[in-house]
Amino acid sequence: MKRILSGIKPTGTLTLGNYLGAIKQFVKLQKKMSDCEFYLFVADLHAITVRQVPSELRKRTLDIAAMYIACGLDKDRTVLYIQSEIPQNVELGYILQSNVYMGELERMTQFKDKVSKQEKSITASLFTYPALMAADIILYDADYVPVGDDQKQHLELSRTIANRFNNSYGDFFIVPDPIIPEVGARIMDLQNPDRKMSKSDENDKGYISLFDDEAAIKRKIKSAVTDSIGIVKYDPINQKGLANLLTIYASIADRNIEDIVTQYAGQNYKQFKEDLGNEIVKVLSPIQENYGQLIKSQELQDILDRGRETASNYAFKKMRKCKRKIGLGRK
Ligand code: TYM
Repeated sequence: MKRILSGIKPTGTLTLGNYLGAIKQFVKLQKKMSDCEFYLFVADLHAITVRQVPSELRKRTLDIAAMYIACGLDKDRTVLYIQSEIPQNVELGYILQSNVYMGELERMTQFKDKVSKQEKSITASLFTYPALMAADIILYDADYVPVGDDQKQHLELSRTIANRFNNSYGDFFIVPDPIIPEVGARIMDLQNPDRKMSKSDENDKGYISLFDDEAAIKRKIKSAVTDSIGIVKYDPINQKGLANLLTIYASIADRNIEDIVTQYAGQNYKQFKEDLGNEIVKVLSPIQENYGQLIKSQELQDILDRGRETASNYAFKKMRKCKRKIGLGRK
């Protein structure tokens, strides 16, 4: 049986980018692929590569777990767990640090971006981040990893690491394939369409949080940067802001960009933006309602307990074999 796995890091608030690029794809795949297993986790160890407030980190970790289910995942078919609750993730992450080179890690654009923003206090774990990410994936023998475009490079490195390990020690890990959506893989910032929408952004007008209320969503879409051309068409070079809004529209409403462009032919941006705001509200309102019920429930705790158990069992056995393979320990 094929296994599909993915994770989200609990930093900042979850955005519409996370939803369209990752969560929604995961839900779709689950509906489409009835013969696959689904592993999904909250990457709290990745979050502490930059300083976090402990109480906020814990809250966001649970928020993401609840949001995953609120967005429509089938809880009976998803192994949902928290990364730090399975120590083998770290154990393999460390081993994989010995199977990746400094030069490869230095080339990671996410690392370079973070360094250019932070300049000082760069932690060692921020640098070795991709080794832990590779471990998250290959420890569970995942076949497919649905992610947004920004994780593509990390996925390529995970494949390189898995192949390198297999070449050195004999076939052992499955080399994972990324699944990147055709539309919505890179949702851009609403105020600056040259930058991807990010949950760590300080300007909250640039992103829509999955927790935003109706008024905030409509306000943010209304104030999203467009252009003075005034014609609704898909032109990601000259009308970047509008192209991003069209992508959001197509992705959230499951429609073709061309259909939407045809619908708004001869109209200005005002109606288009109003309708887009409504579309987003229509999707996010029920998700927020589900989340509100789940976050307080024992059910969420039970799902996470079950997830930890299933993932732990797999990780324990795989790790025991892995250590044997590379000569660690006595037998
Ligand atoms: P993270 O938490 O930054 O993002 C979670 C998922 O959301 C996608 N995403 C986007 N998609 C479209 N447009 C955007 N603006 C946008 N912003 C984020 C990301 O591509 C991702 O799929 N390192 C990972 C977490 C992780 C992981 C893993 C993922 C840790 N281990 C193993 C997969 C497998 C991260 O920080 O994602």
